[in-house]
Amino acid sequence: MSEHFAYPVGLRLSGRRVVVLGAGQVAQRRLPALIAAGADILLISPSATASVEAMAEAGEVRWERRRYQEGDFEGAWYVLITTDDPEANATASAEAEARRIWCVRSDDAEAASAWTPATGRSEGVTVAVLTGQDPRRSAAVRDAVVEGLRDGTLAAPRHRSRGPRVALVGGGPGDPDLITVRGRRLLAEADVVVADRLGPRDLLDELPPHVEVIDAAKIPYGRFMAQEAINNALIEHAKAGKSVVRLKGGDPFVFGRGMEEAEALAEAGIPCTVVPGISSSISVPGAAGIPVTHRGVAHEFTVVSGHVAPDDPSSLVDWAALARLRGTLVLLMAVEKIGAIAATLVAHGRAADTPVAVVQEGTTPAQRRVDATLATVGEKAATEGVRPPAVVVIGDVVALSSRDHR
Ligand SMILES: C[S@@+](CC[C@H](N)C(=O)[O-])C[C@H]1O[C@@H](n2cnc3c(N)ncnc32)[C@H](O)[C@@H]1O
Repeated sequence: MSEHFAYPVGLRLSGRRVVVLGAGQVAQRRLPALIAAGADILLISPSATASVEAMAEAGEVRWERRRYQEGDFEGAWYVLITTDDPEANATASAEAEARRIWCVRSDDAEAASAWTPATGRSEGVTVAVLTGQDPRRSAAVRDAVVEGLRDGTLAAPRHRSRGPRVALVGGGPGDPDLITVRGRRLLAEADVVVADRLGPRDLLDELPPHVEVIDAAKIPYGRFMAQEAINNALIEHAKAGKSVVRLKGGDPFVFGRGMEEAEALAEAGIPCTVVPGISSSISVPGAAGIPVTHRGVAHEFTVVSGHVAPDDPSSLVDWAALARLRGTLVLLMAVEKIGAIAATLVAHGRAADTPVAVVQEGTTPAQRRVDATLATVGEKAATEGVRPPAVVVIGDVVALSSRDHR
C-alpha cells in the first residue's frame, strides 16, 4: 500500500464523534486541532497528562478513565490510537478497519489507514503537509509556508476581491524588524502604501515596483487640512479598488492620529483594520537599555506629549500632577520644549537631580543617547544638538542602565 501516495482531504468533524485512545504527549498535541474542528471527542485512557486533564475539565473532551474495549468505535467517524500498548493498538486498529473508520496510529504509521499531516494556519488558510515517513520534514515545510504567508514573503494574493479596505499599520519605532508579522504581510499585499517619515522606511525599499508609495507629508492639501488630505487620499485609493496600507510610526493610536483616520474611513463606509505597532514610548527607552518600569524603582510610567509648552493655554497636560508622581515619565515630541517642561516639573516638586535620558532615532543605526538631569537637560539637549525624533525618559529607571547601553 505504501507505494501509493496518501490522498489528502479536509475532514469536517463538527459534531461528529472522534475517538482518541491514550492521553499522553501525542494525544495532547493532536487534541487542540480536533477541539478547534468542533469534533465530539471521546477520550479513552486510564491516565492523562495534566494538559489533557485540563481539556477534559473544561468540557472540551469527554474522558472515560479506562482501557480500550472492543466496540468503543461504535458511531465514530475517525479514530486516533496513541497508547503505548502494541497489543491494544493492534486490536483497536482491527476494529477500526472492520468498521471502515479512518484510523491514525502513532505507534505504526504503516499499519494505519490515515496519517495526520503537519498543519498550520494563517489568516483563514490551512496548510497541511504530508511527507510519508518524515514528520520533521513535514513540519519544516509547514513552518516555511505558514511563516511565508504570515510575513508576506510567500506571495499568495487573494483573488476574491474583498472590496475596498484600508489597513492602519503600526510600523514600530524604525528598525524594520520591529513591525508585527501581520503588518509586514499586509504591506506585502498592498497596492498603495501611504507612509509617514517616522517608522520603518527601509521596509518600503523591499516593496515590489508596482506598489505605489505615497509620502504622507507630500500629499497636497490646498483647501483641506493636511490630515483631511491624507484621509481623502486613503478613501480615494480604497474606492478605486486598491489594497491600501497606511503605514505609521510606532503604534497607530499613540499620538498617531490613527483614530481620526479610522473615523474618516468609517464615515466613508470603508472597512478598516488596525494593526497595533511597537510604540517608541516603550521600545526606544528599551533600545537604550532603560526599562520603563523596574521592581522597587518605578511602579508606573506615564506617556506624555511634549509638543505644547506647559504654560500654553491649549495644553491638556496637568504638569503639576505629573511632577508629584514618583514613577517614570516618557515624553514624546518634546525636544523643542524640554527646557520649559523640565523647569515646570522642578517648580512643582520633582527633584532637580532626577536622571533624564534623551534617546534620538532609537532602534535605528543613528540611535544616540544624551544623559542629563532635570536641572541640566534643557541646556544639554541644545548644546548636544539633539533633534527629533527623540524620546525623553525621566526618572530613576534611567540610572539603572549600564554604560554599555549608552
Ligand atoms: C507623532 S509621535 C508618533 C508616536 C508613534 N505613534 C509611536 O507610538 O511611537 C512622534 C514622536 O514619537 C517619538 N519617536 C518615534 N519614533 C522614534 C524613534 N525611532 N526614536 C525616538 N523617538 C521616536 C518622537 O518623540 C517623535 O517626536
